[in-house]
Amino acid sequence: MNIDAGRFLADLHRLQSFGASGVGKGVVRPAYSEADVAARRWLAERMQAAGLRVETDSMGNLFGLADGPSILLGSHSDSQPEGGWLDGALGVVAALEVARASRKAGGPAVSVVSFQDEEGRFGVTTGSAVWSGHLSLAEADLLCDHDGVTLADARRVMASTGEIDPAQFTGFIEMHIEQGPVLDQADERIGVVSDIVGIRDMKITFDGQQNHAGTTPMHIRRDAFQAVSAFNQSLGERFANVVTPSTVWTIGHVSLHPNASSIVPGRAVFSMQWRDGDAERLDRMERIIRALAQEVAQARGMEVSFGQLLGLEPVAMDARLRGALENSAQQVAPERWRVMPSGALHDATNVARLMPVAMLFVPSIGGISHAFEEDTAEDDLVTGLRVLAGAVSGMMPELGG
Ligand code: GLV
Ligand code: MN
Ligand code: MN
Repeated sequence: MNIDAGRFLADLHRLQSFGASGVGKGVVRPAYSEADVAARRWLAERMQAAGLRVETDSMGNLFGLADGPSILLGSHSDSQPEGGWLDGALGVVAALEVARASRKAGGPAVSVVSFQDEEGRFGVTTGSAVWSGHLSLAEADLLCDHDGVTLADARRVMASTGEIDPAQFTGFIEMHIEQGPVLDQADERIGVVSDIVGIRDMKITFDGQQNHAGTTPMHIRRDAFQAVSAFNQSLGERFANVVTPSTVWTIGHVSLHPNASSIVPGRAVFSMQWRDGDAERLDRMERIIRALAQEVAQARGMEVSFGQLLGLEPVAMDARLRGALENSAQQVAPERWRVMPSGALHDATNVARLMPVAMLFVPSIGGISHAFEEDTAEDDLVTGLRVLAGAVSGMMPELGG
C-alpha cells in the first residue's frame, strides 16, 4: 500500500489545533471537553471521507468501521489537562492513514478507533476499560473527576449511535510515542512493545481539624497537609525492600480544604498511583500504602479513608502481531529498533481482554511527555507509520484482506 506521509502529517497538525494550548505544540483536550468533542467530530468526518462507517458508543469511544472482519488500529484523542500533541493522537491519525491507503490498494480491511478518556479524567483508561468489560458502565458512571463532576454527567455531551461488537475485529495494533528517554538516547527509530506495566490508583483522604492559622499552637494542630507530607516522606523508606529500579509511584494531585493561607487545612484528598510490571509487587505496595496512611493518621489524631482502588494488570503483547511489527521494523529501520516494555499505560491493555494486541513506539524528544513540550521528529513519525503499514500488509493473508 502507498501511504501518504504529507496527508498524515497534515491531519496530525489539524488535530493539534483542537484545544491548542498556545505553548509550543501542546494541547488541552481532556475527555468530554468542548475541544475533545470538536476534535472527535472532525475525526468522524475524516473517517467518513475514508469510506468508514462512523459509530460512537455510550462512553464516547469513536469507531470508523470497515465492512466485514477487519484489523482495528488506533489509540485515543483526549489529552491530559496539560498534554502533548502526539500522545494518543498519533495512533489515531496513523490508523486513519493506513485505513485509507489499504482501502485504496485493495489491502486488508482496517477499522479505526479513538478511545475516550484514556488519560483518566475519571478513572484509568476509562473508555476502553468499559468497552472491554473490565469496568461496567454503571460503575464508571459513578466515577468523579477532581472537580466532583460525575462521568454520567460528562458523557451526556456525546450522542451514542450504539454499542460496537468486538467480534468483528481480528486484532488491535496501537502506535504511540514512547513517552520516555530510551529510544531517543539510543538514537533508535522504533520500539516494538513486549509488555505493558500494571497500575494501581486510588484517592486517599486525611481528615483532621480545620482551625485558625494564627492562634492554634503547633503541637495541638491536626493539620491534614502535614499528614500528607509525613506520609510522602516515609513512603520511599517503607517501599525500599519491595520495589525495583523500574517501579514508580506518584502523588500527582493534592486538594486541601479549604485551601486558604490563614486556615490550618482540615482535610486533604490526594491521588496515590503506583506502577510495576509485577502484579504481586503492586499488591505488596498497596498493603504498605494502607498501613502507612493509617499509622500517620493515628499518630496525629486524624481519620484516614481510601477511595475505590482502580487498576489494570500487566499484560504481554500477542506473539504473532508483535512478530509482524518486528519484521516490518527490520525492513523499514534495519538494526535501528528494539523490543522494549511500556512503562506508560495504553488502551491496548484493556483491548487485550478481547483480541490479540500489539504496540509500536517512536522516540520522544528528550523523553518528555504529559507536558506541552512533548514532541517527535517528523521523520520518526513517518517511519513509525511505515512500520505500522508494513505490519498490516504483511498480515494480509491471515486477515483475509
Ligand atoms: C497514560 O497516559 C498513562 O498515564 O500512562
Ligand atoms: Mn496515550
Ligand atoms: Mn497519556
